[in-house]
Amino acid sequence: MAKSSTAFVCQSCGNTTSKWAGKCEACGGWNTITEEGGAPPIGSGASKRLKGRRFPLEDLKTEDAPPARRITGVAEFDRVCGGGLVPGSALLVGGDPGIGKSTLILQSLGEYAKRGGHAVYISGEEALAQVRMRGARMDLANSPLALGAATNVEDILATLESGKPPGIVAIDSIQTLWTGALDAAPGTIAQVRTASFDLVRYAKSSGAALLLVGHVTKEGQIAGPKAVEHLVDAVLYFEGERGHHFRILRAVKNRFGPTDEIGVFEMTGKGLAEVANPSALFLGDRTSAAPGTAVFAGLEGTRPLLCEIQALVSPTAFGTPRRAVVGWDTGRLAMILAVLDARAGVGIGGSDVYLNVAGGLKIGEPGADLASAAALISSFGGTPLPRDSVFFGEISLSGDIRPVPQAEARLKEAAKLGFKTAFVPTGTRADNAGLALVEMADVVELLRFAPAPRASKPAKFAP
Ligand code: TYD
Ligand code: MG
Repeated sequence: MAKSSTAFVCQSCGNTTSKWAGKCEACGGWNTITEEGGAPPIGSGASKRLKGRRFPLEDLKTEDAPPARRITGVAEFDRVCGGGLVPGSALLVGGDPGIGKSTLILQSLGEYAKRGGHAVYISGEEALAQVRMRGARMDLANSPLALGAATNVEDILATLESGKPPGIVAIDSIQTLWTGALDAAPGTIAQVRTASFDLVRYAKSSGAALLLVGHVTKEGQIAGPKAVEHLVDAVLYFEGERGHHFRILRAVKNRFGPTDEIGVFEMTGKGLAEVANPSALFLGDRTSAAPGTAVFAGLEGTRPLLCEIQALVSPTAFGTPRRAVVGWDTGRLAMILAVLDARAGVGIGGSDVYLNVAGGLKIGEPGADLASAAALISSFGGTPLPRDSVFFGEISLSGDIRPVPQAEARLKEAAKLGFKTAFVPTGTRADNAGLALVEMADVVELLRFAPAPRASKPAKFAP
């Protein structure tokens, strides 16, 4: 009798061992190891090399035109995918539970079917009646979308292979999938990986574009998206802050398009609405000029995006000053505070500092340095920044303001939204931007526009 092979697999990092342990040696996670039937651990010597079949090697030249992309009609989704879905490709949509992944997928497939495409939506989490109710709420009741409720991969593949190959097929979600070929429970890494692999293979051979939905927890753990990222051609993350109604779809990997693209949606009572002008959404109503707010002319992907940065500097009530940052990098804030202290003599370091990017947006760009510094100085000195002005520029450790890419696009967006002045790094060129440019070489120059108490003399640099 063949010895049944079981392995112990960490559900967090996928490391395989032959023994159970409370702590994973590879990633240090506690209680993450479970027993799974399947392949023997790599390097255990248990696998024997089998005889292979030869295949021809080919060159890079191609006569074929790239296949036409499948446009769903949900423009923001299509744009983040790189201009529609590529036939035969697999795409993973990850995100926190409840963020709106099912809504996004149902909407895209529903629209695709409405435009004459053949779309199949397989739900493993919700009963068909629930999906129908959701569809009706989203005005998709008349969409000729093919619906199914299944979790077994063999069943799903048998169903898909028996009919006309779909243009787009979506599986919601990979955590519910299981294959009869493995003993492991649904939701374990082995099941998720094997099931996804079979589906990706089906997509490649049939030419269907495959959409996989996967939940991630805050730590990005639990068997799922991380374990299949390498299997798929594109990974999109759907994110948003709880309590805010807009959602951002972000490409983190894309073999067929740019990875810095975002799509902005608003969750409404009738599904997701596309937000064509996100800057207006993130800026909100800016009627009063309060100290501590600065507008950052940012860039998300290829698209300029304006957002408000709010800072609050207040005397500390405790020995250690508090720092709280929402939507920006804590390390970056510490750096800006240190630079302001050392180069401009503005000693905010001893106060409590709160920094917030309005609307729940997350900024990753260093170009937001100047806007953050301006907001901090403005709050510290109690002077509002000049009205109708935007800021962008990276601050170096020496206090210099460095240029950032695509200044012209940022300025155009600011002008479009009615801003009059832009505080920019020296050397920023923009023809007919429609704004007055204030070129800044050093952070000290911010004090001309928002005076703030200076505790010490700024450090002088030897030229
Ligand atoms: P859902 O797509 O089920 O999330 P996920 O698949 O990522 O778990 O979205 C669930 C949330 O979206 C839920 O809190 C209700 C909200 N929602 C709306 O506000 N309006 C709608 O039209 C729909 C369909 C959902
Ligand atoms: Mg869902």
